[in-house]
Amino acid sequence: MQILVTGGAGFIGSHFVLRHVRAYPDDRVVVLDKLTYAADLSFLDPVKDKIRFVEGDIADSRLMTSLVLEERIDAIVNFAAETHVDRSIEDSAPFLQTNILGIQSLIDVCRTHPQTLLLHVSTDEVYGDLRDGDLPKTPGDALRPSSPYAASKAAGDLLLLAAARTYGIRVRISRCTNNFGPHQAGEKFIPTVIRTALADKSVPIYAQGKNKRDWLFVTDHCDALEMVLAKGEDGGIYTVSADAERENIAVAKDILRLLEKPESLLAFVTDRPGHDWRYALDSSSVRAMGWKPQVAFEEGLKKTVEWYEGVISEK
Ligand SMILES: NC(=O)c1ccc[n+]([C@@H]2O[C@H](COP(=O)([O-])OP(=O)(O)OC[C@H]3O[C@@H](n4cnc5c(N)ncnc54)[C@H](O)[C@@H]3O)[C@@H](O)[C@H]2O)c1
Repeated sequence: MQILVTGGAGFIGSHFVLRHVRAYPDDRVVVLDKLTYAADLSFLDPVKDKIRFVEGDIADSRLMTSLVLEERIDAIVNFAAETHVDRSIEDSAPFLQTNILGIQSLIDVCRTHPQTLLLHVSTDEVYGDLRDGDLPKTPGDALRPSSPYAASKAAGDLLLLAAARTYGIRVRISRCTNNFGPHQAGEKFIPTVIRTALADKSVPIYAQGKNKRDWLFVTDHCDALEMVLAKGEDGGIYTVSADAERENIAVAKDILRLLEKPESLLAFVTDRPGHDWRYALDSSSVRAMGWKPQVAFEEGLKKTVEWYEGVISEK
């Protein structure tokens, strides 16, 4: 198979590329990435001789169309996105550009190459938040995004589903819960807690830290995506969760314990505007294909903390 991984120099995309190259050594892997602040090309160093890297923008449909033609791409796995909610609140424009117009460009590519499968990586945030006691969201539930980031992702999903119906392009959408693990940009919640605690600085926690997130170790997510690529159906939506809901404050305290830092570092700060209370997904759509998470939350958190400790001590 010839596979094009867009956004493959970012957090989840880089893990996907590393794992795919190891698991499918006969596949041709092309990685395209705009190299925004969230990317780090060195993540791909272990496989740099086995892949082709192209610096580029998914919104550049001429570049994308010619790349797909030149490399005879069978499948595109799209991780490329603007992803940080707080940044989307400050300035939504880059989010609309990549997460909506970038998707329109990928649709144009797939219309030109109708045999190409597009697996698009979306998010649980498109459903908006849940109250305590609400049932986890399923693929067909209504979209009620709260933040500009989530709204841009929901718009991308809807454009893809409409294009699948109108033009018959081959699309699969996967929506996952919060990922964690090595390679994540320092501004996200878990890296922020680790980074600030290691520097003995105050660890910022929104409101009282009672908001809940459902944590998925990044390599488990990549395995679920491989499952959707191999066994999913065109037009299908897949929701991926490891059923590991935690209050943010509990996660922060776990990290402080692993780092042997005092809880007095925790500093409660003004809440994020529109802050979603809780996310939870029903993962039966991927579990039915045989996927199940392999990395327990505690084990994944330990690996993550150790990785950031290594990176920070090298600096
Ligand atoms: N991290 C999570 O917890 C999480 C949870 C649910 C869904 N997702 C989704 O998974 C995908 C990957 O997330 P991530 O956390 O790895 O993101 P990330 O921000 O770490 O990486 C995004 C990558 O996309 C690249 N990129 C951005 N705009 C681009 C463009 N226009 N053209 C080409 N490349 C571009 C960046 O340079 C970066 O390498 C995103 O679509 C995100 O919405 C992430």
